[in-house]
Amino acid sequence: MADLLDTSRSSCRLLVTGGAGFIGSNFVHYWCDRYPDDRVVVLDALTYAGNRRNLEDLEGQDNFRFVQGDICDRSLIDQLLREENINTIAHFAAESHVDRSILGPAAFVQTNVVGTFTLLEAFRQHWEATGRLDSYCFLHVSTDEVYGSLGLTDPAFTETTPYAPNSPYSASKAGSDHLVRAYYHTYGLPTILTNCSNNYGPYQFPEKLIPLMCINSLIGKQLPVYGDGQNIRDWLYVGDHCSALDVVIHHAKPGETYNVGGNNEVNNIDLVNMLCQLMDELASDLPVHPCHQLITFVKDRPGHDRRYAINATKIKTQLGWMPKVTVKEGLRQTVEWYLTHRDWWEPLLSKEYQAYYRQVYVS
Ligand SMILES: NC(=O)c1ccc[n+]([C@@H]2O[C@H](COP(=O)([O-])OP(=O)(O)OC[C@H]3O[C@@H](n4cnc5c(N)ncnc54)[C@H](O)[C@@H]3O)[C@@H](O)[C@H]2O)c1
Repeated sequence: MADLLDTSRSSCRLLVTGGAGFIGSNFVHYWCDRYPDDRVVVLDALTYAGNRRNLEDLEGQDNFRFVQGDICDRSLIDQLLREENINTIAHFAAESHVDRSILGPAAFVQTNVVGTFTLLEAFRQHWEATGRLDSYCFLHVSTDEVYGSLGLTDPAFTETTPYAPNSPYSASKAGSDHLVRAYYHTYGLPTILTNCSNNYGPYQFPEKLIPLMCINSLIGKQLPVYGDGQNIRDWLYVGDHCSALDVVIHHAKPGETYNVGGNNEVNNIDLVNMLCQLMDELASDLPVHPCHQLITFVKDRPGHDRRYAINATKIKTQLGWMPKVTVKEGLRQTVEWYLTHRDWWEPLLSKEYQAYYRQVYVS
């Protein structure tokens, strides 16, 4: 392993955008547990995907503050950067769901591109006003989907794989990645970019594949699988992702990019079958048992990328990070979480969610 960069990022005053969403809230819990002396300010617009309940155990703690607001609101961001003396932004806020980007791409361009630009510009001026300190850091959390689709035998994505986004979601994330890169090269702003694979774990909104399968099994609804079910994804347990972001924030050099993967390539139908087996084993009162009977192949998503795979050698060799959780262990923990948190997910199956669901899987 190369020598870790000795940064002076030992004490962070963090602005976490999107901290009430899935990965953001896991990250905020991770950070507050591990670094209780750091200040953590969450900025989140509380869209359909944001949930203040994800952070309720932190409310009232001295080192934590929640602010409801939009990353496109420049004056709010200026105010927060100044009054909280922020030196680190961990930027998770985004419209994050590919299917929704196909139904309505405008919000993706607004939040993912314009929102990221607004944050970068505000952080640049803040950083310049405070003397361009090395201890500042803008971490942009992005996706492996910016690299496009792989064939079965293609080598996994590295940090130098050319961008070829195929969905409005991945195109908007690619646009934001390019802005982040440009702010480092043009202004010297200390930015770091991470591109990770599919995350899973607690607090993930019901629309995403793994919670969708758990929740639909529990309520006896069909388990919709796109196309032939042979699309391959790499699965990264969200706790592993948080530890990767920790080493990146503390030790990565400004201007660097790291791919973060779980070393767990699985095709969708195998993943769904693994989940069904876990549900059969762990859930006592399934409406349909064994629950694989609910699996229904549905019309494929337009432009559905066939395979994503991450080569995470760079973060391993430069920063010493590796994922710890296998997909078998992580899925069990995740299923157990959804089984014991019915009060968390049941209210999320709203009328809006049902309407979205019908548009994607039924029409
Ligand atoms: N979930 C994954 O598997 C995955 C994989 C790779 C990359 N990512 C990236 O990680 C980040 C977090 O993903 P996630 O799955 O936690 O997403 P999520 O949809 O669960 O959460 C997004 C959060 O951002 C907030 N938000 C949306 N628009 C906002 C705005 N304009 N201003 C302020 N807040 C806003 C939402 O309220 C929500 O809390 C995203 O940038 C996503 O692109 C996610």
